[in-house]
Amino acid sequence: METLNIVLKRELALLLRTWNYHWNVEGPLFPSLHKLFEAQYDELQELVDEVAERIRSLGGVAPMQVSLDLTTAESTSHMLDALADAHESLSAQMRTEWVPALSEAGDIGTADLLTRALQLHDKAAWMLRSTAK
Ligand SMILES: [Fe+2]
Repeated sequence: METLNIVLKRELALLLRTWNYHWNVEGPLFPSLHKLFEAQYDELQELVDEVAERIRSLGGVAPMQVSLDLTTAESTSHMLDALADAHESLSAQMRTEWVPALSEAGDIGTADLLTRALQLHDKAAWMLRSTAK
């Protein structure tokens, strides 16, 4: 449950950051990035919902704890890097730490959820890195 609470908090922060960039991105790549960010926060919204409902399924209370301050303009390249970094960081922690620990503890359902989540993060990071080139 503790892992799921951390995952929910971090996924929610990434969802909100992606949504914010959807609004604030500027420049020649605006049309494609506006759409890419929307597609990615849609996927994150579904994932966040699944994580929260997994917490409820296991008898916990789904927390909503967000600290994010996006009040100044950011360059497109910073947006792409910040999002890709966040996706890669989540994917790495799922692959090396959370999924092995959950499998070891016998929580196969949550391990499966996070195994699917890391594939979402890998794909999102690939798209962001490719766009940033
Ligand atoms: Fe929109």
